[in-house]
Amino acid sequence: MFPQFSKNFLFGTATAAYQIEGGWNEDGKGLSIWDKFSHTKGKIRDGSNGDVACNTYRDFQTDIDLMSSLKMDAYRFSISWSRVLPEGRGKVNPKGLDYYERLVDALLEKGIRPFVTLFHWDTPYALFEQYKGFAGRETAQYFAEFAGLAIQRLGDRVKDWITLNEPWEHAMMGHFLGEHAPGIRNPWTYFKVAHHLLLGHGLAVQAMRSERNDLNIGVTLSQFPIYPASYEPSEKELDSVEMADMFINRFYLDGVFKGKYPEKLFSRLWPIVPKVYPGDMETIRQPVDFLGVNYYSRLFASRKWYIPFLKTWIDRASADERYNHPILGAHGYPDGFKELAKRYREEYGNPAVYITENGTVGQDIADKNRIEYLTCYLRSLREAIDEGSDIRGYFYWTLIDNFEWNSGLSCPMGLIHVDHKTQQRTIRDSGYWFRDLIAHQESRR
Ligand code: NOJ
Repeated sequence: MFPQFSKNFLFGTATAAYQIEGGWNEDGKGLSIWDKFSHTKGKIRDGSNGDVACNTYRDFQTDIDLMSSLKMDAYRFSISWSRVLPEGRGKVNPKGLDYYERLVDALLEKGIRPFVTLFHWDTPYALFEQYKGFAGRETAQYFAEFAGLAIQRLGDRVKDWITLNEPWEHAMMGHFLGEHAPGIRNPWTYFKVAHHLLLGHGLAVQAMRSERNDLNIGVTLSQFPIYPASYEPSEKELDSVEMADMFINRFYLDGVFKGKYPEKLFSRLWPIVPKVYPGDMETIRQPVDFLGVNYYSRLFASRKWYIPFLKTWIDRASADERYNHPILGAHGYPDGFKELAKRYREEYGNPAVYITENGTVGQDIADKNRIEYLTCYLRSLREAIDEGSDIRGYFYWTLIDNFEWNSGLSCPMGLIHVDHKTQQRTIRDSGYWFRDLIAHQESRR
């Protein structure tokens, strides 16, 4: 039995430009921070880079035909900012815009609804050289100009837009831990980037709405239910849970939906918090049409050792086996969908939600585990809707095995396997399962 959803619920998959396109220096594209980073020795675990990736800059049709054969309703992809504006601002690269126009037209031709992400981490390198990327306030403004340009060209055909993808990861992995581009390790920079990303989001929404009034605009946040690492936590550990939640989730949710940052977080992190100018929070709190949620699993907070001031330490799994999921093990937590949805109902006015990412790693073509994962997570999502949440669609991450950032090409997450030597695609069992899930929606009969 497949989980059942309403007639208009959308099923699709998600990708991002740098992870699939390749064509890193073709047809006038400018460099991005990810081109630079992946070309730096030692940064990518398996030594690969995104120069070719899944080759979709040269051939997107193959994958659109595959999506169509799997009966998908929608496709989430991102625009490479430096393909369209090689310097991040100013002079436009017409071939870059043409590419996205052709891609959109090809999707529409097959009846697939495009959801376009404007920022999926590939800041133009020129803006990094000049302003340190989003560490500089200027970049927020240039991002808004890029967003306006995208609407001028595609807004007549694409209605669904996502400003940012996972600002926490970009700020954290790229500027605090240094494991992603641009490879900076500095807590002050982390916080500046986080604030300027949200500012960029607000300015972009304004710029997009001033171009057109018929758009469905949202922002995608990574979301993590936070649990204490010990099954029977101390008071101190519960405090660490609260701080981790503010740092990872609430900073971004409260910023966008309430126009304020959590006070307790700011008072504890006083030495590193960013400068917030008058008017910034009003800009950030632009009305959005939906919240995009990327959800994979929960995190565990403890105080064994901790990040100074924040007083929390975050792990992906707990050593306590009582936390394990009976089928999915230590890393699977489908109930997270219900917990997050409850929070959005109770604290954020029950916004419309699209699940813009959810997925798992696995190489096999007969990928029973992925099918189990999908079944468990979609069931929980269905229950969240039954409890009153307005969840409108689900995008599996990802369509095709692609360049998984600092893990490189050896972290397969696709419904479709890709042989990166030949670019040969092979649909996994989970891909056919996804097709059948869509075909067996009673509401569509
Ligand atoms: C989140 C990111 O948005 C995406 O780019 C990444 O590949 C997936 N999660 C999987 O890690």
